[in-house]
Amino acid sequence: VKAKYFASVKSITQLKEILQTYPDEKLLLLGEGSNTLLVDDWDGLALKIDIKGKEIIKENNQNVEIKVHSGEIWDKFVRYTVKNNWSGIENLVMIPGTVGAGVAQNIGAYGQEVVNTLVSIEALNRNTFKNQVFSPKECGFRYRNTFFKNEWREEYVIVAATFRLKRYEKGEESDRKYHKYIEGMKTYEGLKEELKTFAKEPYSIKNIMDAVIKQREKKLPSLKEYGTCGCIFENPIITKEKYDELEKKIPGLPSYPFEENMVKIPAGKLLDELGWKGKWEGNVGVFERHALCIVTNREATGEEILNFIKEMQEDVLQKYDVQLGLEINIIKK
Ligand code: EPU
Repeated sequence: VKAKYFASVKSITQLKEILQTYPDEKLLLLGEGSNTLLVDDWDGLALKIDIKGKEIIKENNQNVEIKVHSGEIWDKFVRYTVKNNWSGIENLVMIPGTVGAGVAQNIGAYGQEVVNTLVSIEALNRNTFKNQVFSPKECGFRYRNTFFKNEWREEYVIVAATFRLKRYEKGEESDRKYHKYIEGMKTYEGLKEELKTFAKEPYSIKNIMDAVIKQREKKLPSLKEYGTCGCIFENPIITKEKYDELEKKIPGLPSYPFEENMVKIPAGKLLDELGWKGKWEGNVGVFERHALCIVTNREATGEEILNFIKEMQEDVLQKYDVQLGLEINIIKK
């Protein structure tokens, strides 16, 4: 698709300049674009945020606080923290995109979520052209969502985020401490079998990251091979009553506790039950090993993909009376 204006911005000064030049244009923010489906032309300003750099702000024996600019590549940042033996985001390795996009969408995997390590977020206010610093509490963090992704998307541009990570020394004694710390986490349960195949207890931060890498390589489509946004839908949050009803149709349907009377269920499982895994229509299909991931042969149009998504949603609504919400950003008139 085409944008009326496009710029790749490499510094906060450049970002300010461009926003001041086009104060009234509709704003589309892109990190790497890996979680955005472009369906129609963009009648406004599209910005790729390419502001790089990171610095340690504070450090003591237990923690390190590091400020990272929003254009840094998320996966690279994760690997850098693990190399330093810092813990907090090791489960979020291999998630495509930038730091800014990761924060705006509150990315999560294997029990870790970005919000849990965040200290503050710095964003440029589009009305005052000044930077503002927010605590995570002020930014509406929730499951795969924040004000930056929705309510504030035309108003604020994330320029940096500060993370607080747990510091461990290198060596077996330190690994033992870390191992003790992760043993109580639900993350660990899911990775146990994988860990046994290549590592020995006590597990290090790197062992955990490597287990996640192995799991993701087995289950999720590689960006090198396919055109894909990864997981398309959010995992639906339903009432316990509704869950009991569904469980009769899908025995053993997993559920994860949410608030009070609600549970979260895996959308992938619902779609898998309905036979979507590995199904293709023209240039668009569902990944053969995970029903939540749509893949393309790189020739599909946005429209084709969107129609395919709608068919999947319609099927789940008809058969299970569950509305699948979108995890990706769809850009449409
Ligand atoms: N399942 C199936 N068939 C499928 C896919 C999944 O039966 O085709 C079942 C699995 O067997 C499992 C359950 O569904 O019992 C959950 O599957 P999985 O562990 O793969 O996790 P998910 O809920 O599908 C979420 C996140 C992923 C994240 C993984 C790992 C969402 C929407 N997705 O997926 O995040 O990597 O957990 O923690 O929350 C993303 O957001 O883009 C993303 C990849």
